[in-house]
Amino acid sequence: MARRRLVAGNWKMNGSLAALAEVGTIAEAAARATAVDVAICPPFTLLGAAVAAGKGLPIGAQDCHQSASGAHTGCVSAQMVAETGATLVIVGHSERRQDQGETDGQVRAKAAAAMAAGLIAIVCVGETEAERDSGAAVQVVEAQLHGSIPLRAKASQIVVAYEPVWAIGTGRTPSVFEVTEMHAAIRAKLTGLLWSEGEAVRILYGGSVKAENARELLRVENVDGALVGGASLTAAQFVPIIEAAN
Ligand code: G3H
Repeated sequence: MARRRLVAGNWKMNGSLAALAEVGTIAEAAARATAVDVAICPPFTLLGAAVAAGKGLPIGAQDCHQSASGAHTGCVSAQMVAETGATLVIVGHSERRQDQGETDGQVRAKAAAAMAAGLIAIVCVGETEAERDSGAAVQVVEAQLHGSIPLRAKASQIVVAYEPVWAIGTGRTPSVFEVTEMHAAIRAKLTGLLWSEGEAVRILYGGSVKAENARELLRVENVDGALVGGASLTAAQFVPIIEAAN
């Protein structure tokens, strides 16, 4: 099945109003790319300004609360994200699963809230190094998908990002064999959960993606794009990744 690629940049807790000049340059490269969707996910505080700077470039948040409103100090709902003009939201990133103790159930509720608000939810999964070393990587990721993907989600509403925790920000990446095996397992699980929609859901790889390794990773079957952290912060590093995906 032909799935349109997506290259999304996750700025994490980085960026500033001045840094949004990068978004303008990235948007120009995205407009030249005919076969790939591009998105940037800056911190909440920059969402509105990034939407303006991107001039049509899809912008996403890095989290949302599962409730529409209420007494949740410091939190931001999916509707609030949508109101900025953003069209995507990352949920269940391993940094939030680790730092904020987010569970699969919460991730599923956040993804469902995102869908209800008309946002595309990028649902993150991935094993730790200890889990890979013990041979449990595939089972761990399958269980995360089982608990995190909203039932009846459509392929137009969700994207899955496979990010091995040990590959994030480390410069290490799984082998082509490991990526092939994991993405095939994710595809099979999605098909089991969502039937024909599961075939159409885009599966991104994330974890130390750079211009130098993007082409090889994107050649792997069932790798439909990339979720990029550090190398998405500047157009100089991110644009070659977009070009590799195009
Ligand atoms: O969301 C992005 C990932 O955590 C990957 O980060 O490209 O800096 O390794 P990284």
